[in-house]
Amino acid sequence: MSDDSTDQTSDNVQKAADNKFEIITKYIASGTLIVLSTIFYFGSDRSVGPMIICAVMAIVGSVLLVVGPAKWLINLIAGKVVITPMKVNKSPIPLKGIPKIRVKAPPPDLEKRRSYGASKSVPKTESRLVELPDYSAIPSTDPTVPTYVINEECEIVDWNNAFALAFDNSMEGHRGTPILEWVYRLDNWKEVIDHGEALFSMPSLPPYDCEDILYTSESFGLLRVKKHAYHIPTSTEGQYDGWIVVLDVEFADETNRLLYLERCFDLVQMDLLWSDYALSYDAVLTASDTYPKLLRLMIGEDKIDDFHLKPIAAGAKVLDLGAGTGNLTEMLAKPDDGRTIVAIENNRLMFDLMRRKLKRIGDKVLRSDTSGPGVVTVREHATKLEGLDADFFDVVIANNTLYLLEDPVGLLSECARVLKPGGEIRISGPKKDTNLNQLFGRIRADLTGKNQFKHLQQHYEKVKRINERRLAPNLYRWDVSDVTSLLKEAGFDEIGPTTTRAYAGQAMIVVARTSSNNVDA
Ligand SMILES: C[S@@+](CC[C@H](N)C(=O)[O-])C[C@H]1O[C@@H](n2cnc3c(N)ncnc32)[C@H](O)[C@@H]1O
Repeated sequence: MSDDSTDQTSDNVQKAADNKFEIITKYIASGTLIVLSTIFYFGSDRSVGPMIICAVMAIVGSVLLVVGPAKWLINLIAGKVVITPMKVNKSPIPLKGIPKIRVKAPPPDLEKRRSYGASKSVPKTESRLVELPDYSAIPSTDPTVPTYVINEECEIVDWNNAFALAFDNSMEGHRGTPILEWVYRLDNWKEVIDHGEALFSMPSLPPYDCEDILYTSESFGLLRVKKHAYHIPTSTEGQYDGWIVVLDVEFADETNRLLYLERCFDLVQMDLLWSDYALSYDAVLTASDTYPKLLRLMIGEDKIDDFHLKPIAAGAKVLDLGAGTGNLTEMLAKPDDGRTIVAIENNRLMFDLMRRKLKRIGDKVLRSDTSGPGVVTVREHATKLEGLDADFFDVVIANNTLYLLEDPVGLLSECARVLKPGGEIRISGPKKDTNLNQLFGRIRADLTGKNQFKHLQQHYEKVKRINERRLAPNLYRWDVSDVTSLLKEAGFDEIGPTTTRAYAGQAMIVVARTSSNNVDA
C-alpha cells in the first residue's frame, strides 16, 4: 500500500471514530432530555410554568433524536449521499507484481570468447541440460547476496535468486555446464579466463580464491564484483569437491542498488510463498476430485460435456511449464508410454517434491538428457527456455502457470520456437470472473465426501488464503480473448478449442497450435 493511501485510510478511520462519538453524545443527550421531561411532567403540579419547561425539554430531545437521520435523508434526496455496497477486500496483502527476471542476450562475439576459453587450460566439458541435486543447497545467510555453487568439474550446478536477478538469468538452461559459460558473459571475460588458467596450473588448488569481476547488467547497469570462492571439502582429507562462490556486488548507480534490493525481496518473498504453498497444495488438491479432473482434461483423458482434448500420444515429447510438485508430469510419465518430458519448475521445494514423486514411479524415470523416454527436471525460472532445442516438442502444457509470469508473450514465443511445426500448447488458468469461493467450496465438498476435510483443514485454509490474498492480483488478469491475443502475438495462428468451464467452472483452457507449414525446406 502506498503512503498516500495509508494516510487516507487513517484519516477515514479518525473521521469514522469522530462521527461515532458525535452520534452517541447526541443520543445520550436526547434520551436524557426526554426522560427528564417525562419525570418533570408526572412529578410536577402541571401548572403552566413547569409544563413549558417540560415541553421545551421534550422538543429539544426529539429534535436531537431526529436531526441526524433527517439530515441524512435530505442529503440522500439531494444526491449528496452515495450508498455503497460493503466491499470485500480480495487482497489485503497486495503483491507488487511478479518480480522481473529476464535473460540478457548473449554477447555477439560469444563464439570468439568460447574459442579463447577452449585454447586455455581451464576445465571444460560438453554443454548439457542436467540437474545435479546433490549440490542444490546454497547456504545463504543473506538472500540478496548472489551466490552459486560449482562442482569438482567446474560445472555450475546451483545458484540463488539473487544471482539469477543480478546476472540477468544468464545461466538459464546452462545448469551443469562449465562455469566458463558464465564467464563468457562478463565484461572482463578475458581476464577472468586468464585468472582461471593461472589458478588451475598451480600444483594444488588453494582453499580460497578472490578476483574482480565486471558485468553490465540489463536491469541494474554496471556491477563491480568481488568474487570470493571457497572450496567445499569432501570427507576425504585434503580433497575438494567443489566451490561455493559468494559475490560481493557494488552497484555503479545507487538507485540501481535500491531497485535491485526491492526486486530481490519480491523474488525471495514469492519463492517463499511457493515453498509454503508446496507444503499444502499438493495434499489438498490431490485428495480432491476437482484438480485431478483438470489434469486429466489437460492430457486428454477426461472431458466436460462436449469439451475434450486429444489424448497425448505415447512417445510424445512434452514440456511441462511451472510443473509444481509434478502431478501432471507424473500422469504423463508412465514408463510404458515412452514419453520424453521436460518439467521446468523454479521453486526448490516444489522441485524436490516432484523429483521424489517421479523416483517412486521407477529408477529410470528421471534422466539428464532428452535423447530418450523419461523426465528431465529443470529447476530454474522459465523465461527464454534456453538450452531447449527448436522444433523439439509435440506439446507444451502450462497448467495454472502462465498467469503468474511477468512476460507471458516472451515465454509463449519461446514455446512456439521449441514446438514442432503443428505442435500444440495447452494453457489453463483462472479467468476474470473466477470465483474462488465456488472453487474452494467444491474442493471442500470433495474432501468432506471422502472424510478427508478434517485432517486437511489447515492446509485447505492456507491454500485458499494464499489464493485470496497473495495470488489475487494476478488471478483476474485475463479471459479467453486475452490469452488468444497473447498467443497470436507470440506467433500461434491456430487457436482452439477453448473452454471456460474447467476446474469447477472457475478456470479456462485455451489450446493453440504452431503453423504446420513453417517446416524449413
Ligand atoms: C499454481 S502452481 C501450478 C503447479 C502445477 N502446474 C500444477 O498444476 O500443479 C504454479 C507453479 O509455477 C511455478 N512458477 C512460477 N513462475 C515460474 C517461472 N518463471 N519459472 C518456473 N516456474 C515458475 C511456481 O513455483 C509454482 O510451482
